[in-house]
Amino acid sequence: MGMLRTLVRTKDVDTVIHQNDEAESSGEGLAKSLSSRDLMGFGIGIVIGTGIFTLTGVEAKNQAGPAIVVSFAIAGIIAMMAALCYAEVAAAVPTAGSSYTYAYTTIGEIFAWIIAWDLVLEFSLGAAVVARGWSGYLQSSLGLHGGIWDHILGEGSTVNLGAVFIVLVLGIVAAVGIKEAKWVTNALVVIKVSVCLFVIVAGLFFLKASNLTPFFPKAVPTHGSGDELKQPLWQWASGIEPSSFGIAGVLVAAAVVFFAYSGFEAVANLGEETKNPGKDMPRGLIGTLVICTFLYLAVCFVITGMVKYTNLDEGAPISEAFKPHIGIAGFLIGLAAVCGLSSVILVDIVAMGRIGFALSRDGLLPEGVGKAHPKFKTPFYLTLGVTVVVAVIAATVKLATLAEMVSIGTLFAFVVVAIAVAVLRRTKPKMERPFRTPQVPLLPIITALCCFALMASLAVETWARFLVWLVIGLVVYFAYGRKHSTLARGSRGRKPGLELSASAAGDDR
Ligand code: ALA
Repeated sequence: MGMLRTLVRTKDVDTVIHQNDEAESSGEGLAKSLSSRDLMGFGIGIVIGTGIFTLTGVEAKNQAGPAIVVSFAIAGIIAMMAALCYAEVAAAVPTAGSSYTYAYTTIGEIFAWIIAWDLVLEFSLGAAVVARGWSGYLQSSLGLHGGIWDHILGEGSTVNLGAVFIVLVLGIVAAVGIKEAKWVTNALVVIKVSVCLFVIVAGLFFLKASNLTPFFPKAVPTHGSGDELKQPLWQWASGIEPSSFGIAGVLVAAAVVFFAYSGFEAVANLGEETKNPGKDMPRGLIGTLVICTFLYLAVCFVITGMVKYTNLDEGAPISEAFKPHIGIAGFLIGLAAVCGLSSVILVDIVAMGRIGFALSRDGLLPEGVGKAHPKFKTPFYLTLGVTVVVAVIAATVKLATLAEMVSIGTLFAFVVVAIAVAVLRRTKPKMERPFRTPQVPLLPIITALCCFALMASLAVETWARFLVWLVIGLVVYFAYGRKHSTLARGSRGRKPGLELSASAAGDDR
């Protein structure tokens, strides 16, 4: 019983908020400089990336046809519901740890750790996917095809040196500071949004109705050896014959392109650096998603209207769609994508540093790991360490494999946050909530179920990898975090300035 109680001990919401204030006044915290516009800049910076620039082509061609628009709409609606849940907790508990801290204050330490571990997966693999996409667009826009270039830049490469290069450069930018990161990110975001708007407007002139029919291509059975593990979990579990296209294809594509929306929650990680989180957080989160959803749907529609889905390019579909019509536009779009994708990698790395900061502050990782650098005010060494790991992964693992892993990790975190919103309403009804999610508990419950349904549309092998990652996380927790957690140390002498209350989940009610 004692053991179980330690696993579900929770941090008190009020002390989390108090702790942030203390860190700020003692000068140990992170600089508070961001407005809602900056948050949207970060949000768009991390959200628009390989999802729309690359996965659109892959999934339209292999799973959904022109109905990829529907897949993006389904994923967008679910992401929006999740954002409404995030907005409530992010505004009420502004903290570097985001969903990790929300879980810590509601369902207990072990769940909080699992979430943090899951976020590490999401952001590190997210950065790696985009770095590979970056490399592909670089290759396409500069026309560096064949020979050595395919070996160091292409998706088929054994060691993708393009991806390694961009990860290392941006890791250093992130480690040096939020100001630089903000400046660079904002500039890149402008370029990226401009490309999307250009594609939407210019592309309209090259639409062909025949490309959009059939809008929902008929389901095609997918047979073949080794495909067992590649089919969606629900098809595998129900014994239904695996297929692509048709309704099943649209759903599978929705689950995979959920990746395109992943990352907006990184905005919530910047809670401690936001001037007025109560107002700025909901605006930042929801604004980011509204803008991205609009751009995604329009870009998907235009691209599948310009090129028959069967002919879409899988590496750089957007720039290749323009090349036959306006060659220079194809080249410029490719170059802009290269810039735009950089901001996703950057924000992913920045967000990961923030999670590590929160974890080490809570004693779940060694104290020194996430310490803020006295000069740069960033988790400097952690950011550099993470950068090296991301570079290795980006060098060696395939884009599609990584993208599915990010989707499953993101969806899992959303399930937990949705549950946390509903639980907090019951356990802390009086907590100040600058933003209230509508229709609680109905909306959080529907959100959690929809996220789970999308997870079930992902491949069996993705589930297997995800479970292995979670098991490794549990081993780390039992070997280190459980004993060193600040909550565990609470009774044995607390660090001054970190006022945490140790209580089992039940005591908080
Ligand atoms: N949402 C980000 C992308 O599409 C991760 O690249």
